[in-house]
Amino acid sequence: MNRLLLQTIAREPTPRRPLWIMRQAGRYLPEYRELRKKYAFKELAGSADLSTEVTLMPIKRFPLDAAIVFADIMSPLPAIGVEFDFDPGPVVENPIRDQAGVDALRSCHPDEIAPEVMTALKQVRAELPDETALLGFCGAPWTLAAYLVEGRGKKDFPTLRAFAATQPEALDALLAKLADLMVHYLINQARAGADAVQIFDSWAGVLSLPDWDRMIRPHLETILEALGNAGVPRILFVQNAPHLVESYAMLPAEVLACDWRVDLGDIQNEYQDRKAVQGNIDPAILLGGYDTTRTATRNLLDTVDPVGHIVNLGHGILPQTPIESVEAMIEAVHNEGDQASGRPARTGA
Ligand code: CP3
Repeated sequence: MNRLLLQTIAREPTPRRPLWIMRQAGRYLPEYRELRKKYAFKELAGSADLSTEVTLMPIKRFPLDAAIVFADIMSPLPAIGVEFDFDPGPVVENPIRDQAGVDALRSCHPDEIAPEVMTALKQVRAELPDETALLGFCGAPWTLAAYLVEGRGKKDFPTLRAFAATQPEALDALLAKLADLMVHYLINQARAGADAVQIFDSWAGVLSLPDWDRMIRPHLETILEALGNAGVPRILFVQNAPHLVESYAMLPAEVLACDWRVDLGDIQNEYQDRKAVQGNIDPAILLGGYDTTRTATRNLLDTVDPVGHIVNLGHGILPQTPIESVEAMIEAVHNEGDQASGRPARTGA
């Protein structure tokens, strides 16, 4: 098996850097938008066959080095009795605002957690080229709690932060339940064929470092340690949290995935002997088109050492992104070091 992504996670040298794109199976693809005319997002993600089809869409169009299963961070939550819809982000029917709400979450058998995701993973693996890695994922406990407590996405999640300040014990109990659910969910995904898993902590950045260290970090640590013990490679993605990166970087994960607000080269230098890195082009840059994207990608390649670098965006690809920008990113990565591409040689610069 010769999967660039896995070699890079292990920080082995590779012929070129691997590349995948966060939210690559989404709304910027015309074929996805076409399918969405027929089905609601919940129907797509809830059906193993449709999820398989959407997961493979970007792989059929582009030579990406990993597929990520088409699901949502909310997908495992019906197993503990949470009801929600999408408009367009998650909307929770009965937000959790006290200890009674946490206690009302039911416990479940691991086999009850998103069985459609497990079937999709198996089906996708059977269709994928051998060299393409398959990724599973979940939301971090804090990012899931953001929707469960706030009820829906809201700038800086004020209700969630107030809950953390006024009911720290209820928050801790909620995060512990979610961490336990995510451990089973991710291990099941690895058993179903995921080569590695990414934990999305999209809303990590809304707390101060001391609060984050005290309230949130232990639960992430629980998940990461359990995955490590199970031998599952771990990618930890933190969004909009440059003030937390030093603390995150010490957590047990093979790969630290960062947004565009941090210098990935600096992170790599600081944690070189322990971590691979993933990222981190600003997704908004792709709205600028082919040339802008190619320049940004080349700049990234120039500042980050290739060993242990998975090329990606710093957050999910935006729905308005032109397809040619994705092509520019891929070409820049595939042609790295190619004199004909017009780029100055690395060593001579
Ligand atoms: O990466 C992929 O291609 C796999 C699929 C995937 C989806 N959601 C499908 C989806 C993944 C990895 C996610 C993760 C997710 N979902 C996160 C973490 C990553 C991030 O972007 O920060 C978060 C915070 C959510 C919650 C969520 N779900 C939001 C905010 C939205 C609304 C709009 C959007 O696209 O971000 C959703 C709905 C959703 N999840 C869509 C897709 C393709 C759009 C649904 C549509 O077609 O209308």
